[in-house]
Amino acid sequence: MTDKTARLMVEGLAADVELPIYASAVGPDVIDVTSLTKNGYFTYDPGFMSTAACESKITFIDGGKGVLLHRGYPIDQLAEHSDFLETSYLLLKGELPNAEQKKTFVQAVKDHSEVAPSVANLIQTFAKDAHPMAVLCSAVAALAAVYHSEIDITNDNDRDITAYRLIGQMPTLAAMTYKHLQGEDFVAPNAALEYAENYLNMTFGKTGESKVNPVLAKAMDRIFLLHADHEQNASTSTVRLSGSSGTNPFAAIAAGISTLWGPAHGGANEAVLAMLEEIGSVDNIDTYVEKAKDKADPFRLMGFGHRVYKNFDPRAKVMKQTCDEVLAELGLENDPLLAMAKKLEKIALEDEYFIKKKLYPNVDFYSGIIMKAIGIPPEMFTVIFATGRAVGWYAHWDEMVSEPYKIGRPRQLYTGYTQRDYPA
Ligand code: SDX
Repeated sequence: MTDKTARLMVEGLAADVELPIYASAVGPDVIDVTSLTKNGYFTYDPGFMSTAACESKITFIDGGKGVLLHRGYPIDQLAEHSDFLETSYLLLKGELPNAEQKKTFVQAVKDHSEVAPSVANLIQTFAKDAHPMAVLCSAVAALAAVYHSEIDITNDNDRDITAYRLIGQMPTLAAMTYKHLQGEDFVAPNAALEYAENYLNMTFGKTGESKVNPVLAKAMDRIFLLHADHEQNASTSTVRLSGSSGTNPFAAIAAGISTLWGPAHGGANEAVLAMLEEIGSVDNIDTYVEKAKDKADPFRLMGFGHRVYKNFDPRAKVMKQTCDEVLAELGLENDPLLAMAKKLEKIALEDEYFIKKKLYPNVDFYSGIIMKAIGIPPEMFTVIFATGRAVGWYAHWDEMVSEPYKIGRPRQLYTGYTQRDYPA
């Protein structure tokens, strides 16, 4: 709370409406508008452009400065010095783990990474041309069938075990989805491998052998880390709203997966690859940039722009560096897709339209090129995004249910028919 208030003068109201202002630790303070309803008004904010839907201590973004902090730590420092599971612990618990805490957490995730046979069977019922995000969404929802009666969401220990199960099983489910759609046998989690190494082994390995390129494993871990959380984005807001009804946490996470799938959100990484392949050559880039600028043309440059970042997405910078590392390791520095991406980025960053609208490359712009180089097919890219983001979704759900909360129930501006009688 601050000692500041906002005073709203509305014609027709007998008195101004005093609205309390709450102070943030950093970033915008907020105006509490809850008392507006009793004065006969709602706020109106389609797309939630100016709405703080909750209080949170997990992630802070400054879109103007291109800043992303996880529990206060800048994303570029975490990408350089931390790893995905350590950052996951930080998101969940609020502090970096000491050596013993990290060891225990890593082991707990490993101990809960096996997928129940019923869920494995469900994955195998899907047609081979099913989109992996549909398979993943169903599989995570099915975890609510496996783990339901034993979860008391008010119990800290139950919530910890649910976190281990989610974080442990997401890469297993992702790999099983890939293997099934490829018509190959599943490869079980291998407790001797680190998290991202284990994912790559379950995806590209064969049972009984595990040789993963350490440069690719590190790149995969960084991709999970860079996608881990991002404040109140559409899919995280979905998880919070779904979870606010008290539903099974796996069901709420499945709702988040559904939202992430869209090309305006997590589906953009797959869309970036499709766009680059549609552009086809560096020579066609100018034509497509003009299409992107033409309001009459629905074409947009996938991987560019962001609701919050009106400066470079700090994750994109790290992703670009990782992209260079992976392509160098694989001898693909002259990859034509990379050449097109770099040319597109250069043009867009110099073009008046993109400069004026503050459209910069976002996290999805380079991630697809890295994943394609590693051998992951484009339709699996958002599955990888969801695997990283699952811990962020869970951290926000856990933060919400750990405190008193109310079911989310927005109102509307109604412009339909007023009451009329059924024709006699
Ligand atoms: C993610 O919220 C998060 O944090 C998301 C995310 C996360 O980690 O969870 O960061 C992950 O979703 C990243 C964004 C991935 N999506 C894409 O790359 C798809 C392409 N980008 C656009 O669809 C768009 O930029 C959005 C959806 C990302 C943001 O859209 P907004 O905030 O609603 O902005 P807008 O659509 O109102 O655009 C503002 C203007 C418009 O022009 P005018 O109407 O003002 O003339 O900018 C233009 C848009 O036409 N514009 C683009 C553009 N993005 C916006 N023009 C061309 N190409 C683009 N990519």
